[in-house]
Amino acid sequence: MPSFRSVFIAVILATALVVAAFLVQSRRPRVEVAQARPEAVRATGKCASCHREETAAIVQEYELSRHAAAGTTCLDCHGAAEGQEKLEHRGFILTRQVTARNCAQCHAHEYEEFLRSRHALPAYAAVQGAAGLPADQVAYSEQYNPGAVRRPPNALTGIEGSAAIASGCSSCHSVGQPNKDGSIGSCTACHTRHRASVALARLPETCGQCHMGPDHSQLEIYHESKHGILFNAFRGEMNLDAPPRRLTVADMPVPTCSTCHMSGLGGGPPTHNPGTRLSYYLFAEQSQRRPSYQTGRDAMSAVCDNCHTAGRTKQFFAQAEQIVQTVNERVRTGQAIVNDVRARGLLTPAPLDEPIEYAYFDFWHYAGRTAKHGAFMGGADFVQWHGNYELVKGIVELKAQAAELRSRGGGAAGVAR
Ligand code: HEC
Ligand code: HEC
Ligand code: HEC
Ligand code: HEC
Ligand code: HEC
Ligand code: HEC
Ligand code: HEC
Ligand code: HEC
Repeated sequence: MPSFRSVFIAVILATALVVAAFLVQSRRPRVEVAQARPEAVRATGKCASCHREETAAIVQEYELSRHAAAGTTCLDCHGAAEGQEKLEHRGFILTRQVTARNCAQCHAHEYEEFLRSRHALPAYAAVQGAAGLPADQVAYSEQYNPGAVRRPPNALTGIEGSAAIASGCSSCHSVGQPNKDGSIGSCTACHTRHRASVALARLPETCGQCHMGPDHSQLEIYHESKHGILFNAFRGEMNLDAPPRRLTVADMPVPTCSTCHMSGLGGGPPTHNPGTRLSYYLFAEQSQRRPSYQTGRDAMSAVCDNCHTAGRTKQFFAQAEQIVQTVNERVRTGQAIVNDVRARGLLTPAPLDEPIEYAYFDFWHYAGRTAKHGAFMGGADFVQWHGNYELVKGIVELKAQAAELRSRGGGAAGVAR
């Protein structure tokens, strides 16, 4: 039997420990207490009860999301992660900006794939160039996309000015922007902030907010393709919410952009790097094969072959490759016309300050690209009337403009003065 004295001492010690712990805890900053993990659920309650008044739509959207169902809280995303600037807010410590860094805490795999894609730094550098980017990040991305990051700012940034670039180019190209905390890109471009939904990401319009217009008419091409026609007719029957790793043709018998470029249909691996399924640089003036030509083609064909016979897919790609060759030849012809007047000193050295330079830019950047994209995604009108027709017409017009410049001699060009 323990003596009364040892029991008494044990009780005193235990009480002292409890009081000490309580004192230490109460002297910790309020925010730290509030952010202790078991409190996090209550924290969402606090954020939500106040924000239901302040910003009702945000709370509503959050509550409809899979995050809310899985118990991911407001603070899980809004709490300051490594390297982030802190903001004191109603007794909580938040990050000033929720970035890909916050998402990557739980979705590291998606972030890694995204980082290797052209949606990351290459998208940003296409407009702003590499100036100011950390060398290690440039080197990392260049490893996967040679020449895509280490380049000067696009010539149009100087010509159009910063206001036009900020609300224009950057609205789309910021999908790959560098963030202050050292992370890259915006996950919310496709997922939005509070719904974080795969159903949304699988809709053509979501990609089409950027992938549209005369220079990359992917949305328009899709809508006129058989795939787009069927999808629009029967979209109500698709199970767009199917979990990515279990997506089958029964969920989506018709493909959308994400099916071909990102989803894992029928057990194939989904990817956040759409470049892994491509074989050409179609956006380029002269389209060359990618270093990953064969693996890209195989991966894309595997997607088609969920729904088509392999022979048909092969034939389709062989036909599309012929369009790439034809367009490359036509663009070379146009390029030679402009190079000739340039070599004669009939143009200023500055880019895009003369009519023939715009004519040539539209020629390859609109008509050339459109024809190639149309051929690979089933848009006959884009291969023809917005594509090859414009190219043959463009060659005639470029020749006429070049003849005019030659007949005027050095008159039009600053260099001759
Ligand atoms: C008692 C009310 C209240 C609580 C609790 C509260 N907020 Fe807020 N919050 C506001 C108000 C009001 C604003 C807008 C004005 C401001 O910035 O203070 C705001 C703004 C914000 C902003 C925008 C900040 C900015 O500068 O752009 C975010 C993000 C935010 N709250 C998230 C949260 C999160 C996450 C929580 C819980 C951890 C939370 N809030 C708790 C009332 C509250
Ligand atoms: C999946 C992550 C995630 C969750 C969970 C989340 N948010 Fe957000 N929230 C974001 C992102 C991303 C932004 C955009 C932030 C930015 O630009 O810095 C944002 C922005 C906000 C803003 C500013 C919006 C504006 O337009 O001014 C408020 C307020 C906000 N969140 C409140 C909340 C509240 C309240 C909750 C919980 C009910 C919550 N958020 C849950 C990711 C999240
Ligand atoms: C604290 C961890 C955590 C953070 C931070 C987080 N998520 Fe999630 N996310 C989850 C969990 C858990 C799920 C649910 C998985 C499930 O239901 O299978 C999920 C699911 C998703 C889904 C799939 C939703 C669907 O419809 O199936 C998307 C998309 C997503 N998150 C995007 C984001 C984005 C974007 C951010 C940053 C703005 C983010 N997440 C931040 C934990 C997190
Ligand atoms: C509506 C959204 C949008 C706007 C606005 C936009 N772009 Fe793009 N840009 C895209 C998309 C989408 C692609 C990808 C095209 C493809 O791969 O076929 C792209 C491709 C490019 C490319 C070729 C890819 C590369 O890495 O070289 C360059 C260069 C480019 N854009 C520069 C610009 C510049 C400069 C501006 C503004 C003067 C601009 N873009 C405005 C969406 C946009
Ligand atoms: C270009 C658009 C786009 C961007 C940018 C994007 N996603 Fe996604 N994401 C998708 C699509 C599409 C799917 C659904 C793929 C499918 O159908 O299987 C998806 C699915 C997901 C899922 C569900 C995966 C699973 O297996 O359940 C998570 C989590 C996710 N994304 C997180 C992120 C994070 C984190 C980022 C930023 C690093 C990000 N996404 C950026 C388009 C995007
Ligand atoms: C049926 C499958 C399919 C659908 C649906 C589809 N694509 Fe494509 N896409 C392709 C193929 C095939 C290529 C050419 C691949 C190659 O380079 O080998 C391509 C090329 C592209 C490129 C060109 C990349 C470059 O090199 O310039 C972009 C960008 C693109 N698609 C975006 C989209 C968007 C956005 C949508 C939806 C509006 C979409 N795609 C719908 C199959 C599809
Ligand atoms: C916020 C704008 C934006 C959204 C949304 C977006 N993209 Fe892009 N995407 C771009 C830009 C910009 C590029 C060009 C990047 C570069 O090459 O410089 C691009 C490039 C691509 C490419 C070519 C990649 C390569 O390796 O050349 C494909 C394919 C593509 N996107 C598919 C998609 C799909 C599918 C979706 C929807 C799930 C989507 N994108 C949503 C802006 C966007
Ligand atoms: C999820 C299923 C699915 C995927 C994946 C898919 N398709 Fe289709 N495709 C269809 C359906 C359904 C039709 C409509 C067939 C009809 O008219 O009955 C169709 C029609 C077509 C057509 C026009 C009809 C024809 O056969 O000439 C072409 C061409 C085509 N697809 C090519 C492709 C290519 C190339 C890919 C891969 C890059 C692809 N499809 C991926 C389902 C799919």
